[in-house]
Amino acid sequence: MATLYLASTHNIPGKFKNDEKIPSFCCECGIQPIPNEGLKTLRSDSMFTDIPTAILNRMKFLEEKDEKDRKDGTSHWHRLRQITPDTGRFIALMAAATPKGNWIEVGTSAGYSSLWISLACRQLSNTLTTYEIFPAKVEQAHETFSEAGVEDVIHLVEEDALKGLKEINDVSFCFLDAEKDVYLRCYELVIPRMVSGGILIADNATTHKEDLSMMIGRALTDERVDAMVVPVGKGELVCRKI
Ligand SMILES: C[S@@+](CC[C@H](N)C(=O)[O-])C[C@H]1O[C@@H](n2cnc3c(N)ncnc32)[C@H](O)[C@@H]1O
Repeated sequence: MATLYLASTHNIPGKFKNDEKIPSFCCECGIQPIPNEGLKTLRSDSMFTDIPTAILNRMKFLEEKDEKDRKDGTSHWHRLRQITPDTGRFIALMAAATPKGNWIEVGTSAGYSSLWISLACRQLSNTLTTYEIFPAKVEQAHETFSEAGVEDVIHLVEEDALKGLKEINDVSFCFLDAEKDVYLRCYELVIPRMVSGGILIADNATTHKEDLSMMIGRALTDERVDAMVVPVGKGELVCRKI
């Protein structure tokens, strides 16, 4: 059980000292301090309040690169085309809530979304297998995972996911973020390979609603899953295997 210090995460250094009367709850966040040990909290192992600096630095680097790519005319295949940071938090939360099983991602790019999922990997002592087909992106993703120190929890596979997905079973989490024309085929490969309670999330359900209409329609009427589109980031289709 890790102990987080409120003074660093809540920006109130020195507000309470050991010899002062400590209130029942921190006035700013409602978390209970532990008397005589300064400002400590009973919360532990949070995915988001204690992200390692190496991961934060690489996330920032990739966010800036993605923004630049979008403005400077970088070609479709070379652009990073990453998820938004709130989608990152969302997929990490969803992954951390899944039952036991294998976690996969279709469409690594330079590894930004994988970094978010790596936070959940640490939480549940699980690993992520992520598929990327484009060699230049594979190179950048290797650099990301090495610099961020997450190579032990992320297994990067340079392969067409349509081939790789046929070899994996007992899937409890899948994040789908590739070319739109492979979504439906990936969906049909993954759903039968999922454990009950497993979660599949597909990005761009709102921004590419027309391109993905077949796949979204299939999921929303599929008796094997409960599904809905949630207004996070670019629109996330969330399916839970029954
Ligand atoms: C939208 S980007 C992924 C962004 C990434 N998820 C992120 O947020 O950091 C889509 C990626 O999927 C890859 N891709 C497309 N089709 C693929 C396939 N059949 N198998 C594996 N990767 C694929 C592309 O090369 C591209 O890098």
